[in-house]
Amino acid sequence: MFAPSLTELANKYGTDKGTEGPSDQWGAHNYTDVYEPYFEKLRFAPINLLEIGLGVHGENWPTRIAHGRNPQGGASLKTWYDYFPNAAIYGADINAAPHLDNDRIKTFVFDQGNAQQLQAFANSINNIQFDIIVEDGSHRPDHQQITLGFFFKMLKSGGLYIVEDLMDNGLGDDLEEAGLHACGDFKKTRTVLKEFQKTGKFGTPHALLDPDYLAKNIENLRFHVPHRVAVVEKVRWKRVKARIVGARTRLRWQPDSEKLCIIRKK
Ligand SMILES: C[S@@+](CC[C@H](N)C(=O)[O-])C[C@H]1O[C@@H](n2cnc3c(N)ncnc32)[C@H](O)[C@@H]1O
Repeated sequence: MFAPSLTELANKYGTDKGTEGPSDQWGAHNYTDVYEPYFEKLRFAPINLLEIGLGVHGENWPTRIAHGRNPQGGASLKTWYDYFPNAAIYGADINAAPHLDNDRIKTFVFDQGNAQQLQAFANSINNIQFDIIVEDGSHRPDHQQITLGFFFKMLKSGGLYIVEDLMDNGLGDDLEEAGLHACGDFKKTRTVLKEFQKTGKFGTPHALLDPDYLAKNIENLRFHVPHRVAVVEKVRWKRVKARIVGARTRLRWQPDSEKLCIIRKK
């Protein structure tokens, strides 16, 4: 009777943007509860949506999310397809995913860290403008920043650009843990954007393409810390918590631990 929520669809297909992920072995991010208030006004509109990073197997990136309920990958594209029944959906990845193409989904291959490849993609779709762009690719700071700088120009006025999975993976961070997602030449994207939020200037060194255009065209940006609920039996959790932090200490979110940035264009 009621249309499913974005989180219900994300859980059905097994993207980690929902609350369940593809399997018990994969932590989910609960981004969709954050997205739905931004997206619901557009639900039935004939929008153009682009997602970069589809979660598909291939020789160019060792994708691990494609398993469990999401064996072929592309769970998030399938989620957008159902949630936005009138949208044209563009997906791009460094691994090819033609098996995801259908009447409203079209997939492309590019390396998001390569500006020439981004330009070739833009030309191939006649430089159309998007209402929503979701960036869920390599999560490397240089890639996130090149992609943001490039694709912000392809966003409509009032459109939303989302950078997912802000990590501690840039200059000055302990990069070992970030593995393939790390790049020590530039500040992490959270820091670059937070400095802009506070001062009007992007943190340096950064890899943003055309930062002046970006600075002039950002209406606002919001950082989010999606909630993750510890799945521990209640009584036991209370005991564990008391032992770790002391009975009178409250658990709080770590400062600068936001995972999402949602940017609106003027
Ligand atoms: C976390 S998965 C995306 C998950 C998917 N959005 C979902 O929610 O189900 C990340 C994807 O980014 C792709 N990727 C990694 N590096 C890339 C690059 N340089 N350019 C484009 N895509 C890249 C990987 O191949 C992988 O499929």
